[in-house]
Amino acid sequence: MTVLVRSFAKINLGLYIGAARADGYHDLRTVYQTIALHDVIRVSVVRGGGIEILCKNKDPRVPLDSSNTCYRMAELVMDELGAKGRVSIEIEKRLPVQGGLGAASSNAVATMVALEFELKKTRVVKKKLSGPARLRIAAEVGSDLPLFLVGGTTLGVGRGEEVYPLPDLPAIPMVIVTPEVGVSTAQAFADWDALVQRERAAELRPAGQPRAAVPTRASTGEDARPSTGSEQLTRAGASDRLFEVGRALSAWLSGYPNTGASAKGGSRAGSLLSDLVRTGIENDFEKVVFPQYPELRDIKGALERAGSRYASLSGSGSTLYGLFRSSADAAWAANRLRKQGVRAEATSTLTRQQYWKRIFDC
Ligand code: C5P
Repeated sequence: MTVLVRSFAKINLGLYIGAARADGYHDLRTVYQTIALHDVIRVSVVRGGGIEILCKNKDPRVPLDSSNTCYRMAELVMDELGAKGRVSIEIEKRLPVQGGLGAASSNAVATMVALEFELKKTRVVKKKLSGPARLRIAAEVGSDLPLFLVGGTTLGVGRGEEVYPLPDLPAIPMVIVTPEVGVSTAQAFADWDALVQRERAAELRPAGQPRAAVPTRASTGEDARPSTGSEQLTRAGASDRLFEVGRALSAWLSGYPNTGASAKGGSRAGSLLSDLVRTGIENDFEKVVFPQYPELRDIKGALERAGSRYASLSGSGSTLYGLFRSSADAAWAANRLRKQGVRAEATSTLTRQQYWKRIFDC
């Protein structure tokens, strides 16, 4: 017997990076939002032992060994439940790899959900994982996993693994653009640290002292252009900044209680989008990723010119998204972008209710 589940993607509605922590991670504030684009995960358990990973479309970028997030997840779930058996996980890859859509994290959570279901169905084990155990295991595999145990609109704090369900935003029509480039999240965080260091050194530098004293990207062959908005990075301490951002995000969201019922979006989505733009919610990763990949900044511009009310990089990219007032607007924009040679797809955000309903609805 095989259990089939959808593994949905996420986008970030704003992402603010705080200080680097002693454990090597960064504190952050973000609003995660699940969307309808997905991979498909098939899980089966038979007699024997071991974990097997298969990739249906043989994408060479998907590891088939223990470094795959699904492998690590299966290992932890089997251990926690004291279950025995041979676990086979097949990934049907549709989402971009290293795209900022949380695909690998989502695949791992889908594996957890499917594996638990399969173990129960085949009566390998009787007990279920507790809610806290699910969250703990998910956070152990990666910072972006726990959000997929909540779904819909979710606040992410800590290193992103600490998640709180927010009043759900309505389903919003959108366009996703998936450029060919893959961006390493670890590298993007390291680039952020370098940017903050440069800005801090520049602030401390006495007037008239040459810039060469400050290490720049130019010395490492990277683009040294100053990024827009970076002057705000050091004005407040990193934790003050996260505090301010938390307030801005909560002020923005507090006007939209219980909007999940309005699955079609409509005028509520319209006013939400206007507020999102007005509040100036942004993704810090744009400040380090756009200078390295100027084509991504151009795509954001193309999304805006195609009528998007709010456009942004998702996570550390390279995926960009644009939110639209209507599905017709989104479909029109996706078509226009494709004609310009951009890989664009119209889709929609998913409310929490839709997310959980459609996970098993394959
Ligand atoms: O937890 P995850 O495996 O998704 O993180 C990948 C890498 O991204 C980490 O090893 C770390 O270098 C970086 N990271 C970070 N701060 C975060 C999340 C991730 O520095 N909040």
